[in-house]
Amino acid sequence: MAQQIILTGYRPTGKLHIGHWFGNLQNMLELQKEYDCYFFIADWHALTSEWSDSTHISEYTREMVLDWVAAGLDPEKCAIYRQSDVPEVAELNLYFSMVTPMSWLERVPTYKEQKENLADKDLGNVGFFLYPLLMSCDIIVLGADHVPVGEDQLPHLELAREVARRFNYTYGKHEMATDGSGEEIIEQVVVEPEAIISKTGARVPGLDGRKMSKSYGNAIFISDEPDVMRKKIMSCMTDPARQRKTDPGDPNICPLHQIHKLIGKDDELAKWEEDCRCAACGCVAHKRAVAEELVAYFEEFSKRRREVEQIEGYAERILEEGARKARPRAQETIAKVRKAIHID
Ligand code: TRP
Repeated sequence: MAQQIILTGYRPTGKLHIGHWFGNLQNMLELQKEYDCYFFIADWHALTSEWSDSTHISEYTREMVLDWVAAGLDPEKCAIYRQSDVPEVAELNLYFSMVTPMSWLERVPTYKEQKENLADKDLGNVGFFLYPLLMSCDIIVLGADHVPVGEDQLPHLELAREVARRFNYTYGKHEMATDGSGEEIIEQVVVEPEAIISKTGARVPGLDGRKMSKSYGNAIFISDEPDVMRKKIMSCMTDPARQRKTDPGDPNICPLHQIHKLIGKDDELAKWEEDCRCAACGCVAHKRAVAEELVAYFEEFSKRRREVEQIEGYAERILEEGARKARPRAQETIAKVRKAIHID
């Protein structure tokens, strides 16, 4: 059997935060050991919301590549590329826009959610509306079998599957099974992808308890200087019921504790939980402890990040090499697609 293709993408929103690190990146590090992996920076996706001020997109793309390699992604083992270096994605987007009913895009829950959450941005543009469809194209143009994503991206994966199915149904050859079962077999022109939910799966809360996101201003970046990390943790929300040190709290609803759980040792975590529930410790002491653990956890990464930053043209070289691996696959898909829809 052919090697399974794994693909996932990130918008270049600047530096990675700990939500990315624990959500998807750890998973990517594992996957690159065993599979044929394609990891890309979705600069066109960034444009859908940053269109009116796109000045930072290329710089953020570079930052992200450096974060990835410093975290341990190996450009020799996997393809690390930039979406806009594979223009076949845009061509597929055009073909897919024909078979996709507008209602499918309207009902994607992230569409309304993001528009409400990012009310200060003008997201009434067609490009943003097409966001999930473009994502389907990223996946399908590379012929990916599996897509590791956070839970929040599941509706997008569902759309990708539906679009692939509808495309195959419309343009693939229909044949009767030869085994006499009377079943109809539809030619699979494009691959229907499947999601893989990252191990930690859950949403990592930000400093204010909402999902961690750069655009919400509640993120801790993995490349934050130690003092910045400490300061952020000291400002982190805890259980709002704990007004005073003597008020008992619930660690399950405390964002600080959710962050702690990502890095802490089991026995120590259990102790903090117990102390919180019976008001034996204060939130400030808990914050101090988490801050120090977090700084120590990212020390090794920070060292490597500073090293790769010093290598002249490193990110650019990685992206070029990645595009060299990704494009032929995309071109192959486009050739098949063109043939199927008689634009060949
Ligand atoms: N939508 C993803 C996010 O917001 C980024 C993304 C774009 C992506 N294209 C993709 C993820 C394809 C997986 C596969 O994080």
